[in-house]
Amino acid sequence: MPTTILPTDQPPLLHHAVEEAVRLLQAGEVVALPTETVYGLAADALNPAAVAKVFEAKERPSFDPLIVHLPDRKMLETVADIPEDVHKTIMRLIERYWPGPLTLLLPKKACVPDIVTAGLPTVAVRISSHPIFKRVATALNKPIAAPSANRFGAISPTSANAVLAELDGRIPLILDGGACLHGLESTIIKVEPGSPKNMITIVRPGPITPEELKLYGRLQRMTRNVVDDATASEAPGQLASHYAPRTPLRLLSKPSDFIPVEGKTYALMSYRGEEKDGYLDLTDWKEIMILSPGNGKLPEAAVRFFYVMRELDKLGVDEIIAEPMLEHGMGVAMMDKLRRASTRTA
Ligand code: TXA
Ligand code: MG
Repeated sequence: MPTTILPTDQPPLLHHAVEEAVRLLQAGEVVALPTETVYGLAADALNPAAVAKVFEAKERPSFDPLIVHLPDRKMLETVADIPEDVHKTIMRLIERYWPGPLTLLLPKKACVPDIVTAGLPTVAVRISSHPIFKRVATALNKPIAAPSANRFGAISPTSANAVLAELDGRIPLILDGGACLHGLESTIIKVEPGSPKNMITIVRPGPITPEELKLYGRLQRMTRNVVDDATASEAPGQLASHYAPRTPLRLLSKPSDFIPVEGKTYALMSYRGEEKDGYLDLTDWKEIMILSPGNGKLPEAAVRFFYVMRELDKLGVDEIIAEPMLEHGMGVAMMDKLRRASTRTA
């Protein structure tokens, strides 16, 4: 099937693009839409046949559940229960972070098809703050299932072109909303009762940081940082090999960990491109790409993260070498992803 990209940067174009997206979604088709985190591959969440097309286009295994995006808060009770013992905490989090990059795991209502949640009793929900996504969701007025618009296990797309590189010929439409604001997928959390404070488990680190979340409950990191068990029910999609470029990637902890092999080619994913960090001179790099030029601002690095990974993957080098980053704020999510990407080659 031919894949169309529709621009949205003029009001009439935006109007047409949104209409087309809604028409396709109503007809049980899938459409790639921009969100403030990464591009999502959207389908009507209450239509199992439409959701099946998402799994098919992504080649996603059926045990990996999808995030459900709501047009507004009123629809939350339609798809999920909010347990009494965590109600207050959930409401405070929603008040603060919705619409935005925070996904909550909650007990699901019966109307949510099993294919969406991979048979789990919980559903992952969020409300996107992206103006284009919001317009489509509001016009459709239904929950939208939307995982990241990449093939299973590959790098999440943060531009319409990146979606095309992943799914060309497999989906009818991509709305081009430009580059994504955050560049990393939403933070996924689970809230459980506890005394004196409820417990918050970060199932997937993302733009809402541990430092922020600890104001809302006692923070628990997932016990296993890299989940090896493909069927682990806590985070079925958090496979060790996720977010991986095709080129082998290795995350270093210090410059001296890298000893180049004669005849092999390497590219460097540099955190801030500073000579004093000790990575720039380690070898004759085929390419050096810098995440946050200058002084290493983590949100700036996040915006460029998947783009840089994708570009380095195109070079055809033997190995991509990644510098470590500060592990706070959005650095937690990026280091998590680099570890997952590098386990494939370990
Ligand atoms: O920012 C985002 O969250 C993007 C945009 C498009 O909204 N979406 C996204 O979806 O990253 P996806 O499918 O690529 O990642 C969703 C993750 C998967 O790892 C999946 O296993 C997990 O959420 N997940 C979904 N439902 C779950 C559930 N009921 N319990 C545990 N994990 C769940
Ligand atoms: Mg994904």
